[in-house]
Amino acid sequence: MHGKTFSKLYDFAGKYRNVNISKGYSTFCQVRFLEQTSNGIFDKLRNDEYLKNYFEKSKEEFAEKLAYYMCELIALHPFLELNGRILRLFFDMIATYNGYEYIDYKDSLIIEDGDNKYIKASIDCMTGKDNKMYQIILNGLKKAK
Ligand SMILES: Nc1ncnc2c1ncn2[C@@H]1O[C@H](COP(=O)(O)OP(=O)(O)O)[C@@H](O)[C@H]1O
Ligand SMILES: [Mg+2]
Repeated sequence: MHGKTFSKLYDFAGKYRNVNISKGYSTFCQVRFLEQTSNGIFDKLRNDEYLKNYFEKSKEEFAEKLAYYMCELIALHPFLELNGRILRLFFDMIATYNGYEYIDYKDSLIIEDGDNKYIKASIDCMTGKDNKMYQIILNGLKKAK
């Protein structure tokens, strides 16, 4: 998706980054582990059938899964740039497939003590804590009419 969306704009589109990067105090997955870690996450997602079967299940169950994968992929940060945008689009597509509107992140953009809630939730993802992301996604999921 990253490649298809951005290849006309950037040479790095769809390619694993080849430099280690960090934001604030967070250092994302090291380059030498990117491919194997990414494969591990997407193997798991494949075993979860790409979350295609959440139409009948509860919003809470769906939000838990989305938050888990969102956090894993935030910590992976596979591309040099545009990770945030493509990740949210990716999960929006899964949400719409299951009968939801695009996830509404509006409330998570409110800034408190310097960072917004989405960034604070992303920082927690770095240590495997996905509860803040779960709350954001649960709050942002609405069934499509
Ligand atoms: N300090 C941080 N710790 C962990 N993750 C962060 C931090 N700051 C930002 N992020 C994550 O990185 C994403 C931004 O990555 P980036 O590649 O710049 O994407 P984009 O350009 O689309 O915003 C944010 O959406 C957030 O999930
Ligand atoms: Mg950016």
